[in-house]
Amino acid sequence: MTQQNNLFICGLACALLLAPGCNQQKHANISTTDLYRLHCSGCHGDGTGNGHIAQTLKTRPRNLQHKEWQSSVSDEHIQKVIRDGGLSAKLSEEMPAFATKLTEQQIAGLTQYIRRLGM
Ligand code: HEC
Repeated sequence: MTQQNNLFICGLACALLLAPGCNQQKHANISTTDLYRLHCSGCHGDGTGNGHIAQTLKTRPRNLQHKEWQSSVSDEHIQKVIRDGGLSAKLSEEMPAFATKLTEQQIAGLTQYIRRLGM
């Protein structure tokens, strides 16, 4: 089954069940690539910071593919920024916090995804 179908069925199931706390974004079946597309690429684009929203930001998201940046930060830093937002690491407040939208596992997955961008 394609990822798109998966997403559709997940959304449909959530809509039909109308279960309290049924949060599509926290659904375990969504792939890390889709999570990145859904939550991050609007600003970060392919990692270089060329997302369509990026032009409207005061702070241009840095190039996450950059090797020097990659080696200057720990996985913990990346996870913290995703979980608690830019301000938590003295970066731009325009980097949102995803603690309520993503599980710890998804944040860890996205961290590895970002690591792969730098290769
Ligand atoms: C609304 C735009 C926006 C969205 C959406 C967004 N970011 Fe960011 N992100 C930023 C900005 C702006 C910065 C700060 C860049 C700076 O201060 O140099 C940032 C910083 C970061 C950093 C830290 C870079 C550093 O300098 O240490 C990481 C990692 C990151 N974002 C990952 C993500 C991930 C993963 C997602 C999706 C879950 C995401 N971002 C969603 C705008 C965004």
